Amino acid sequence: MSAGRDHCLVTTSIIVGGSGALGRVLAQRFADRGDTVVITSRTRERADAAAAEIADTVRGLALDLSRPETIAEALVDVREVDNLVLAGVPAGFNTLAQFDIAKAVEAVTTKLVGYTETVRVLRDRFTRDASVVLFGGLAKERPYPGSTIVTAINSGVTGLVKTLAVEIAPHRVNAIHPGVVGDSPRWRDVPDHPHVPRTPIGRLVTMAEVADAADFLLRNTGVNAEDLFIDGGLRAT
Ligand SMILES: NC(=O)c1ccc[n+]([C@@H]2O[C@H](COP(=O)([O-])OP(=O)(O)OC[C@H]3O[C@@H](n4cnc5c(N)ncnc54)[C@H](OP(=O)(O)O)[C@@H]3O)[C@@H](O)[C@H]2O)c1
Repeated sequence: MSAGRDHCLVTTSIIVGGSGALGRVLAQRFADRGDTVVITSRTRERADAAAAEIADTVRGLALDLSRPETIAEALVDVREVDNLVLAGVPAGFNTLAQFDIAKAVEAVTTKLVGYTETVRVLRDRFTRDASVVLFGGLAKERPYPGSTIVTAINSGVTGLVKTLAVEIAPHRVNAIHPGVVGDSPRWRDVPDHPHVPRTPIGRLVTMAEVADAADFLLRNTGVNAEDLFIDGGLRAT
């Protein structure tokens, strides 16, 4: 007896933020097993370029989560959805000492309003076993100087999965909260990251491990409204 979905002929996976590091690894995984994959970027050019690097079957789409009123139109050509992954995030730190209000509003809008609006727009196109994964991050539990907004929006992702699990039932929605991902472009040039000696597995987690966990959340039909941390056990220390 399988703990996952019934085998579908073709699975359609949409990865918002699929032009980024983690989204791209996940898109590659889906494309390699024959899914129909759509990845997004804020520009069609970047989305198409990333799609072409993954596989010639992957399609690119322009979508800006920080402009939620444009999301419905951006997704008009998407017909059905089995896997919806929301990984988009704006770049950069924002300290209280040099607080940038516009950047803060953009970040909050992107993850909280943008993620919600994307789910709202696509829910009528969900297939029977469709499932959603939202990307948060360990900063929700482990703040660092400059992480106030990041910590707040990743905590907001936890709130979102709880309420969306009720609102889109029986479809499932879960969150994944990676720790510092050691081989992602953001961190690969920081080999001596202070989390390394404090992490029980003795290293930072990898993009492949995060993608595998996101895939598990999408496939396993019993997991719902869950926050899954992929941090090598750092939270236990
Ligand atoms: N890497 C880590 O160590 C780490 C740790 C914890 C949590 N996370 C979380 O994991 C997720 C993916 O991270 P990543 O490292 O893959 O990030 P990344 O490489 O910086 O990629 C970010 C993605 O978000 C897209 N994006 C940015 N602003 C957007 C907007 N307004 N609307 C739609 N898309 C937008 C980017 O698209 P374009 O720039 O092409 O437009 C890109 O596809 C994020 O939610 C992040 O918070 C990552």
